[in-house]
Amino acid sequence: MDRDAAAERITKLTEMLNEHNYNYYVLDHPKISDAEYDGLMQELIRIEETYPDLALPDSPARRVGGEPAAGFETVSHLVPMLSLSNAFGEQDLRDFDRRVRGGLDGHPVEYVVELKIDGLAVSLLYENGIFVRGATRGDGETGEDITQNLKTINSIPLRLRHFLPQLEVRGEAYMPKKEFTRINMEREEAGLPTFANPRNAAAGSLRQLDPRVTASRALDAFLYGIGRVSGMTAAGHREGLQALRELGLKVNPNVRVFSDIEPVIEYCREWADKRHDLPYEIDGMVVKVNDLALQTELGTTSKSPRWAIAYKFPAEEAETVVRDIYVRVGRTGVLTPTASLEPVRVAGSTISSATLHNIDIIREKDIRIGDHVVIHKAGDVIPEVVRVIKDKRTGSEKEFHMPGACPVCRTDAQRAEGEVAVRCPNEICPGREREGLIHFVSRDAMDIEGLGPAVIDQLLGAGLIRDAADLYYLKAEDLLGLERMGKKSVDNLLNAIEKSKHKDLAQLIFALGIRHVGARTGKILAAHFSSIARLQEAEVEELTTVPEIGPKMAESIAAYFREPVKLQLLDRLKAAGVNFTQETPQAGERLFDGKTFVLTGTLERYTRKEAQNIIENLGGKVSSSVSKKTDYVLAGREAGSKLDKATALGVKVISEDDFEELVS
Ligand code: IVH
Repeated sequence: MDRDAAAERITKLTEMLNEHNYNYYVLDHPKISDAEYDGLMQELIRIEETYPDLALPDSPARRVGGEPAAGFETVSHLVPMLSLSNAFGEQDLRDFDRRVRGGLDGHPVEYVVELKIDGLAVSLLYENGIFVRGATRGDGETGEDITQNLKTINSIPLRLRHFLPQLEVRGEAYMPKKEFTRINMEREEAGLPTFANPRNAAAGSLRQLDPRVTASRALDAFLYGIGRVSGMTAAGHREGLQALRELGLKVNPNVRVFSDIEPVIEYCREWADKRHDLPYEIDGMVVKVNDLALQTELGTTSKSPRWAIAYKFPAEEAETVVRDIYVRVGRTGVLTPTASLEPVRVAGSTISSATLHNIDIIREKDIRIGDHVVIHKAGDVIPEVVRVIKDKRTGSEKEFHMPGACPVCRTDAQRAEGEVAVRCPNEICPGREREGLIHFVSRDAMDIEGLGPAVIDQLLGAGLIRDAADLYYLKAEDLLGLERMGKKSVDNLLNAIEKSKHKDLAQLIFALGIRHVGARTGKILAAHFSSIARLQEAEVEELTTVPEIGPKMAESIAAYFREPVKLQLLDRLKAAGVNFTQETPQAGERLFDGKTFVLTGTLERYTRKEAQNIIENLGGKVSSSVSKKTDYVLAGREAGSKLDKATALGVKVISEDDFEELVS
C-alpha cells in the first residue's frame, strides 16, 4: 500500500473504529461483531506500524500506548474542581432547599437530581475536539496528569462528535461491580491483597504508572459537569448534560428534574433501594440547581457550591455471628478461608457467608469462630467482615487455624514464597475440578445454559464427568436415569452443550481457566493467535510481545500448555468438535457480505442476539424493518406484520431450518 492510500485508509479506519467504539461503549448498542471490530483494528495496527507518522491524534489503536511513566506530572485545572457539601438525612435536604430559596428571594427553582457515582473525580480536556489531557481532582486547583490511563477507558471518546474549540469536562471514573469482583478474585488467586471496594480499585487502577495495567482493568466513566467550554452555550445544567451526550460523552441516564424538594427526597429514597440493581456502585444522590444564572447568583463557599448538595446513603453494614470458618478450594488451587454466618439482610440480599481472604487478614482483624461481627457488602457479590465487636465476646470463641492439607483431596497445601495464598497443588483435585467446571460453563466462558453448580454436582456425583471435555461425550441414556432429568431437560442440556461447541475462540480460552487469564485477555489472545494450536506453540518471549500480556501472565499461559493433564483435556475437547480457531474475516469473501436480514417472530434455536451475531460474523447486517432492500426475512414462530410486509414486497422469507442450512 502506498503512502497516500495508507493515509486514506487510516482516516477511514480511525473514523469507523471510533464510531463502533461509541456504539458499543457509550450507546451500548454494537452494530458489528467483536470479531469484525478486531479485524478492523488489526488492519489499522498493521498500517500504522508501517507508517507510524500517519497515525491520527485520535487513533483508537493507541489507547494503550507508551512506556510506563516515572511519575505523574502536575496539571492546573482551567476552572477549579470543587467538592460538594453532604446531606446525611432527608432533613438536611429540606434545609438545603430552604437556604437555596432564601438566597434567591423566593424565585422558583428547578432541581436536577443525579446518581452520585462512587469512583474517582476526573477532568478531561478536549482541544479542537481532540482529547488532549485528563487529570485527577487533586486539591481542586491542581491534579495529576493521568491522560495515558484515561485513554484506556473505551467510553471516553478520543474525538468529540462535533467540533468545539475547547471543552473541560468533569465526571467520575469508576469500576463496574462485575469487574471489581473479577479483579479481586484474580488477585486472591494470585496471592495479592484485594481491593476493599470498587472506588479504591478504580483509584488504584488510574494511578498506575504503566497504562497497560490500567488497560487490563475494564474501567468506565460518566461525565456530569462542564468546567470551561467555548463554542457552546446552555442555560441550564440539564441542557448541558444533553449537550455532553450529543458530543459523544457518556452521561448517566438516570437524571430527573423537579421543582419541589419533596419529590426530590422521594426520588432519593427510590434509589436507596434500587441502587443494588445497578452494575456500578453509587454512594448517594446529587441535587443541583438547574438554572446556571441562579447557580451564579447563589455562588460558592471556599470549598463547595451553594447550589448543589450530595445526599449520602447510609452505610450498608449489618451485624451477625460467625458460626464457623471453613476452607474453600478455588479452581487454581487457592485455599480461601470463608466465614459461615448467621443469615442477615444487607445491601438488598441475604448474606450467609463471607470471604475472609487469607489467614493474615483473619489474624489482623482477629476474627474467631463465634464472634459477633460487622459485615459490609462491597460490590456485587463479595460480602466482607469489617470488624469484630469485641465487647460481645464471651470467652467461648475459637481461634481458626489453616489446615495443612487440601480439605477436598487431602494433598499437602503449599505456600509460595512471598505469597499470602496457600494452595492445593494437585491438578486433579476434585474440588479444583468442580470449580473449574463451574467456570467453564459460566456466562462469559462457554455459556452452557441449564448447567449450573447443582447439575454439575449431580453429574460429578453420578461419575458421569470429571472434567470439561467429558461434557461433550455425555449421552442421553446416561442422563435419563438421573433425578429431575426428564426427556425434555436432557434434550435441552445436550442441545446447550452442543451449541457451545461453536463459541468464539476467546470464550474457549477464557473457559480453560488459565491462571491470570480473564475474559478480556481471552479476547486479546484469540485476536492475536487465531487458534489454540498457535497459542500453544507460543513461548513466553513471544507472549510478552502481545499488548497487555505481562511476564507473569505469559509464564502462566506457557505453564498451562506444559501440563500433561491440560494437553489431554485439549485433545479431547478438540476431538469432540469444540471450535479451536478464530476466523479473521476478510472483507469481500464472507457468505453474507452486503446482505441485509430482518428477524421476526420467536426463534427456537437462537436468541435474537445470537442470530444477529452469526449474521454479522458472516458479513451481513440486521435491520429492524422490512423494505425492498431487505435480502432475507428470518421468520420464527408467530411472525407478524414484518412477515406480511415481506410477502407483499416479494422479499425472500426463510425458516430457521433454511437459515441453519445456509450457515452450516
Ligand atoms: S458534581 C461542583 N455530580 O462526588 C460540583 N459529583 O464531593 C462537583 N460525584 O468530587 C461535583 N457523582 O467526585 C457531581 N453526579 C455527580 C457526581 C459527583 C459523583 C463525586 C465527585 C465529587 C464528589 C462530591
